[in-house]
Amino acid sequence: MAYQDFNMDHQWLPFTPNRSFKKDPRVFVAADGMFFTTHDGKQVLDGISSLWCVGAGHNRKPINEAIKKQLDTLDYATAFQASNDQAFKAAEMIAAMAPGDLNQVLFCNSGSEAADTSLKVALAYHRARGEGHRNVFIGRERGYHGVGFGGMSVGGIPANRKVYGAALLPRVDHMRFIHDPVNHAYIHGAEPEWKEDILLELEQRILPLHDPSNIAAVIVEPVAGSAGWYLPPKGYLKRLREICDKHGILLIFDEVITGFGRLGTNFGADYYGVVPDMLNFAKAVTNGVIPLGGVICTDRIYNTMMEANAGSPAHAIEFFHGYTYSGHPVACAAAMATLNLFKEEKLFERAGQMGLVLGDAMHGGFKGLPNVVGIRSLGLAGAVELASIAGAPGKRAYDIFMDCFKRGVLVRPAGENIVVCPPYIVEKAHIERIVSVVADSIRKNA
Ligand SMILES: Cc1ncc(COP(=O)(O)O)c(C=O)c1O
Repeated sequence: MAYQDFNMDHQWLPFTPNRSFKKDPRVFVAADGMFFTTHDGKQVLDGISSLWCVGAGHNRKPINEAIKKQLDTLDYATAFQASNDQAFKAAEMIAAMAPGDLNQVLFCNSGSEAADTSLKVALAYHRARGEGHRNVFIGRERGYHGVGFGGMSVGGIPANRKVYGAALLPRVDHMRFIHDPVNHAYIHGAEPEWKEDILLELEQRILPLHDPSNIAAVIVEPVAGSAGWYLPPKGYLKRLREICDKHGILLIFDEVITGFGRLGTNFGADYYGVVPDMLNFAKAVTNGVIPLGGVICTDRIYNTMMEANAGSPAHAIEFFHGYTYSGHPVACAAAMATLNLFKEEKLFERAGQMGLVLGDAMHGGFKGLPNVVGIRSLGLAGAVELASIAGAPGKRAYDIFMDCFKRGVLVRPAGENIVVCPPYIVEKAHIERIVSVVADSIRKNA
């Protein structure tokens, strides 16, 4: 199908209903600050930081300039058996921002690659310590760790797994989900206090079933993002850390969404005061401009891997893993410019402050509307959950998303939720506009 100056016959769109998209396309051709311009000349407010990526807003000159400068200096260099100066500098900056002894950065290009990388590090680390039998992974229901086979296996969103069952990793189990729709449907910036200890299931059922000595790692998102912004109960992550420590299990935080400012802190680990053994990042690190991801490992993990090879010859590689574009110099230059911009403009603090504004607006604007069954806000993100239409799961949120888009506001449908997570530069007036358009649309789709 031809559309103005582009033909839509050859792109198979990811995570998109292709047939209906091509009948009613949503195509961006430019962006600046909080707004996109579409192919048909409309302005659309970016209410989701373009999938949690664009913290500093679109078209930021310092990032663009850093990329141009890097392209003119060192466009690319092989990542294996050699490296580039930008990768070392970016790794140093990222390690300095990470809590505890998370100091060793393994670069990749996406959140999915970060998930698979972290799982592979876990296996290699345990083997290096003489515990190669530790090869069970534990994820959580409705967790999202990307679309690689590893991430998909520990992930827990049913639609993402359904078709690929035969190829999922066999030694994986999942903890129960962290949402209580009866007692904690509405959460405004707080940690929900559960009467029940939901980690008893891990301690009393999952660990004994596999035997703790066989478990390599537990992987969780500090806040479940892709499922629809579900917050952990009070004390959950601390207790998870304790359980992992007790049994020698590595704890991996997938911070692809919570990393780099979304909660008003560097990482979710800082927000919750819990340091994992590995921390996966991607999304906001380059402001979405160029793909970059990574896994920040503790010194202990890195040193163990090096020491295990102390007796091997100088040419022996300690970890057989990497991507052609690991630590790409242009992506790393973009990351450093982004992180500097975040710092100069105090954008993480701003995300924390504007998050309160967003939370107030969402709770005030949506509670009591037809079909609203929950509202959860924390940091600069929130979700309004809607009653499912019988026989058509996800349809209500999808219809609201489509309607909001037509009215010039981009929000995210996630299951039965509409998620809002604007760039950190968002103003109160933008938030008011997003909430008013979504509220109208919820009424219209009642
Ligand atoms: C927590 C988490 N992990 C991994 C991913 C996958 O990232 P990517 O799409 O860059 O592969 C995502 C993407 O939304 C995510 O939210």
